Order: sequence, then structure tokens, then C-alpha cells
Amino acid sequence: MSEAPSEAIRIAVVIGTVRPENYTSKAARLVVDELERRDGVVVDVVDPATLALPFPGHPDSRGDAQRMAETLRAATGVVLSTPEYHGGFSSVIKLVIENMGFPSGLAAKPVALLGVAAGTIGAVKSIESLRGVCSHVGALVLPGAVSVAGVQKAFDEEGNCTDAAVEKRVRGLAVSLLDYIDDHICPRLAFEATIRSEAV
Ligand SMILES: Cc1cc2nc3c(=O)[nH]c(=O)nc-3n(C[C@H](O)[C@H](O)[C@H](O)COP(=O)(O)O)c2cc1C
Repeated sequence: MSEAPSEAIRIAVVIGTVRPENYTSKAARLVVDELERRDGVVVDVVDPATLALPFPGHPDSRGDAQRMAETLRAATGVVLSTPEYHGGFSSVIKLVIENMGFPSGLAAKPVALLGVAAGTIGAVKSIESLRGVCSHVGALVLPGAVSVAGVQKAFDEEGNCTDAAVEKRVRGLAVSLLDYIDDHICPRLAFEATIRSEAV
């Protein structure tokens, strides 16, 4: 987790695949870039390719899994990015969620969903099933999830987005998440801070 002033809004962006050269990261990078343009926003990218995440019940449930869970628990909001694999969201994203504990550290957290797919119908099935799982664990799943169809045509190999409309929609996900946090989470945090300071 990177250092940040205590009043910063922390957003964790989770990459939902470990496939080399994956397009999910290319799309997620646009979200990260948009978030980082805002003052007072600190982004933590959670990349499972760099982590050893255990299956539930595996004795090695500390280390990376614990650090990842702490990063996500400390986040004001979360972006889950997933590829469409076999008509659903990726096992990597499921493993991230399974490593968030039960009850889940995602409970009551605003979560924005980004799905990408090679196919022409996009990642609609992934997003809808992921929405169900996230709601089940108590996350506040934002409306307006973004699905990118034909993702391998929308980004070049260097990760540049070559489709202005796609770029606008993907960046818009970051904007919606920050707007939601400004409208619904920041007033609550400010209220709680006031109550705490008055109680001393
Ligand atoms: C195991 C696997 C299953 C896939 N299943 C689908 C699918 O059901 N529908 C689809 O449109 N694309 C499917 N794809 C293609 C991915 O959507 C494509 O690779 C896209 O770039 C997003 O995945 P990526 O982040 O790994 O690049 C699949 C790819 C893999 C590796």
C-alpha cells in the first residue's frame, strides 16, 4: 500500500487476470490514469500476477493474501476489472473475493465493475454474475458498469486505446466512482470524524 495523507481517498483497482499481455490491465490502466488525475486520490493497483493468493482453506492464508485484504479494506472504493472467460468473470477475481474474508472486507464498500471481452457481445455476462457475487458479500455495486466488446481492437499492443468512445466510457467509470464517493461516502466520513472529535 502506498503512503497517503490521512484525508486522501484511496481507490484499489484489482486486475482480474494473470494472463501475460492481457487486455484487462490495458483497460484498467485508463481507469487508474483518470483516478490519478484527481487531487487527493491515491490509487493502489492490486495485481494478482504478483501475489500468491491461496484457495480458501489452504494453510498459507497469510502473507500476500493478508496484505491484499488490508489494501482493499483500507480503500474507500474498489474497481474490479475482469476479462470474460468462458461466459463468466475470471477465477482470479473470484479468488480475490474469496481472500477478502467471511464476512467480507468488501461489505459496504462502493465497487465499480469493468469487464472486457474479445467477443462482440462484450463482458455483459461476466459483469452481471460478478454484480451478483459482490452484492451477496454486501458490497455497494455501482450502477453503470462498463463492458468493452472487441477489446483487442480497442487497444493496441502497447496498451493505447484506439477507440475514443471506449476510452470515454472506461474513464467514465472512474468519474462515477469518485462522484458516488463524494456524494455518499465523504459526508458520512466527515460526520463520523465530527462525532469522534466531540466525544473526546
Ligand atoms: C480461458 C479463456 C476464456 C475465454 N472466454 C471468452 C468468452 O467466453 N467470451 C469472449 O468474448 N472472450 C473470451 N476469451 C477471450 C478474452 O475475452 C480475451 O482474451 C480478452 O482480451 C480479455 O481477456 P484478457 O484480459 O486475458 O486479455 C477467453 C479467453 C481465455 C484465455
